[in-house]
Amino acid sequence: MTMSASLSDNFPNHIAIIMDGNGRWAKARNKSRLFGHQEGVKAVRRIVEDASELGVKCLTLYSFSTENWSRPKAEVAALFGLLRRYVTDDLDTLNARGVRVRILGSRVGLNREMLRLLDNVEKVTETNTKFMLNIAFNYGGRDEIVRAVRAFAQDVQAGDKDIDALDENLFASYLDTKDIPMPDLVIRTSGEHRISNFLIWQTAYAEFVFSPVLWPDYSREDLQDAINIFSGRERRFGNLDAKEVA
Ligand code: IPE
Ligand code: IPE
Ligand code: MG
Repeated sequence: MTMSASLSDNFPNHIAIIMDGNGRWAKARNKSRLFGHQEGVKAVRRIVEDASELGVKCLTLYSFSTENWSRPKAEVAALFGLLRRYVTDDLDTLNARGVRVRILGSRVGLNREMLRLLDNVEKVTETNTKFMLNIAFNYGGRDEIVRAVRAFAQDVQAGDKDIDALDENLFASYLDTKDIPMPDLVIRTSGEHRISNFLIWQTAYAEFVFSPVLWPDYSREDLQDAINIFSGRERRFGNLDAKEVA
């Protein structure tokens, strides 16, 4: 794969965010974790608009991990309810703004009603081109890779694919992110410094910016700061300093 650093690399066209800290935000206010997640959805609404206005083309938001199933049943149900409501209540607004919505992650464990809603939001917004919003829900990077391996193996077994043809590009076409550019910048809020199984294949060469701000408080200014930090960095992709290559 050839990747080169150029001026256009100075702006993060695709930003992926690990939205963390809803629980701590709520706790600090003596509120329930659910309240924190509800405020988190408000932050999602703001950031989708802000990102679009700042010139970002593609935004991927981590909203429920395959590991989040281990939380109390009531919290899991609440998080499911919030996504269900978001893709229902915001569908018209997102569509009117030219946002194409995709849901990344496993469909296993989602009920029929949820599957219908997720398919619907993807289908209705399919031809929109102004902005790409990807919601990673019931998503785990390891799970995604295993599902991709399985799908490729099935194609080989069916005689549709040749093992020798497998390379990085072909493999990537089996991931949930097929047709989506690789993230340039990953932001994690709430002061945690880990990937938590998010886009582990896709972030191989992403830049990381960590913010201490808890997700419900994450603002347009915070996003602008992260973009500025990104723009001041030099991406090398294994090559030498740009000045030495020229
Ligand atoms: C992020 O907030 C949302 C999800 C992981 C679903 P958390 O719920 O992880 O909040 P903290 O980390 O407990 O503060
Ligand atoms: C990562 O946050 C998952 C999402 C933001 C959806 P977590 O709060 O679940 O991550 P850990 O458990 O602190 O690593
Ligand atoms: Mg957390």
